Amino acid sequence: MELVDARAIVTGAASGLGRRFALELARAGARVAAVDVDADGLQRLVAEASGGRSGVDTFVCDVSREEAVRTTVQQAIAALGTANVLVNNAGILRDGLLVSQEDGFVRKLPTAQWRSVLETNLTGAYLMAREVAAQMVERQVRPALVVNISSLTGGGNAGQSNYSASKAALDALTRTWAMELAPHGIRVGGIAPGLVDTPMLASLGDAEREALTAKVPLGRAGQPYEIWLALRLLIECEFFTGRVIAVDGGAA
Ligand SMILES: NC(=O)c1ccc[n+]([C@@H]2O[C@H](COP(=O)([O-])OP(=O)(O)OC[C@H]3O[C@@H](n4cnc5c(N)ncnc54)[C@H](O)[C@@H]3O)[C@@H](O)[C@H]2O)c1
Repeated sequence: MELVDARAIVTGAASGLGRRFALELARAGARVAAVDVDADGLQRLVAEASGGRSGVDTFVCDVSREEAVRTTVQQAIAALGTANVLVNNAGILRDGLLVSQEDGFVRKLPTAQWRSVLETNLTGAYLMAREVAAQMVERQVRPALVVNISSLTGGGNAGQSNYSASKAALDALTRTWAMELAPHGIRVGGIAPGLVDTPMLASLGDAEREALTAKVPLGRAGQPYEIWLALRLLIECEFFTGRVIAVDGGAA
């Protein structure tokens, strides 16, 4: 698909990677429906996208809420005319060890902390993909693409039971949906970034950020634009499906 032909729904578009994806798509002349829980961030995105070749429509929605997702997808498709690209990018971190010991007490990872991450990162992607793919199938939208933004830490990372599990599951969904949706002409791909310079990374403490950066062979965090280049490949390359591209500076 040519970028200019993309009619894209991007979740988590008010910040970081999603914001960069929305701005680059608008700059290329694609139409964008930007979805996020952060209404103020979406307003800032609209102001910034005004220099692009096309505009950005915004939708305040929590992707983990089934009814809200259903309504938002309908409204986004009405605004775009059709949706031929979905980028499941919304994600959160709520790090914590499964069990830890402090001052003689054993602390357990709270179930709410587990669930909040699974609900946003995994259930949110499932709900969005299900609603958008149903529209793609019903309206015979071709070409069509679903992208899941995963993470290097889908391979496992101490302190990230919830986050790592959500991203590993997302990678499994990328492969599963690619098989299921190929007969309908829908491609499904994943991008697994390593460290990227976004507000999510900034939310970690200095010491943790420095320790993580030290593990990257290229010696730095990536920039959102460098992850956009991978999304651009997935959009443009019609032979790509069912795989997750790692863009991580060589980190293991
Ligand atoms: N920054 C990194 O180092 C890094 C590395 C690997 C993967 N990722 C992944 O990239 C994606 C984007 O991360 P980022 O670094 O840009 O983070 P970010 O915190 O800057 O942006 C995430 C956006 O998602 C939105 N969001 C959160 N919960 C939501 C919900 N329930 N419904 C709708 N929107 C919601 C937030 O409001 C925010 O605008 C995430 O899936 C993240 O896991 C990031």
